[in-house]
Amino acid sequence: MANVQVENVRKIYKRDTQNIVVLNGISLEVPDGEFVALMGPSGSGKTTLLNLIAGIDKPTSGSVQVGGTEVTQLSESALAKWRSRHVGFIFQFYNLIPVLTAVENIELPLLLTNLSKPKRRERALTALRIVGLTDRAKHYPRQLSGGQEQRVAIARAIVTDPAVLVADEPTGDLDAHSAEEILDLMETLNQEFKKTIVMVTHDPRAAERAHVKRYLEKGVLANTIEGD
Ligand SMILES: Nc1ncnc2c1ncn2[C@@H]1O[C@H](COP(=O)(O)OP(=O)(O)OP(=O)(O)O)[C@@H](O)[C@H]1O
Ligand SMILES: [Mg+2]
Repeated sequence: MANVQVENVRKIYKRDTQNIVVLNGISLEVPDGEFVALMGPSGSGKTTLLNLIAGIDKPTSGSVQVGGTEVTQLSESALAKWRSRHVGFIFQFYNLIPVLTAVENIELPLLLTNLSKPKRRERALTALRIVGLTDRAKHYPRQLSGGQEQRVAIARAIVTDPAVLVADEPTGDLDAHSAEEILDLMETLNQEFKKTIVMVTHDPRAAERAHVKRYLEKGVLANTIEGD
């Protein structure tokens, strides 16, 4: 069974009297353990599609299944709970909470679980170790480099051990060296930790790390153009 199954999804935004068709019948199947790069011009709907897969937003029509759950059928509260356990979201600009330390940021998604405080801390420290930042547990985001902030954000994304990770230009704000480190980490999460990954990127070198490249343009999804 495909881990992520998007079927005939349309997303239409209504602005005043205008309808903007962003996704026009998208189907995408991502098998368990796959690493997919999603490319396409600015405004083509890449973030919109990621948000649908992560259950942050709902399609106008069509089906989105993740790990066998029809995400579009869940109520807002069920969705929030489902999301916190089944998908990890990695953003371009990290989205860390500035007044919380690295380890406190990583613990946040665990507040929605039944884990005790010591267990939450233990899990957060494990995630921090996986991303190689054990020595930065007590640092605040402003005391970290961009690459380190993104690694903390990745630790936060994996702390509930979700099967699926979605990443929206995770290297978009980083220098080449830090970007390579983040991509190495994404590869490790895919290969060793068996995470299914859908990664939006503009960077062809980042896309090379994925096994499959898909291209979004004018509301539809194409296989990557030959030679791209
Ligand atoms: N909440 C919204 N209301 C109205 N229109 C929206 C909304 N969110 C996105 N859009 C429109 O949908 C289209 C796709 O946006 P989206 O953010 O998914 O593009 P993208 O491919 O991620 O672009 P980028 O590469 O610049 O991040 C854009 O034309 C945008 O203006
Ligand atoms: Mg985007």
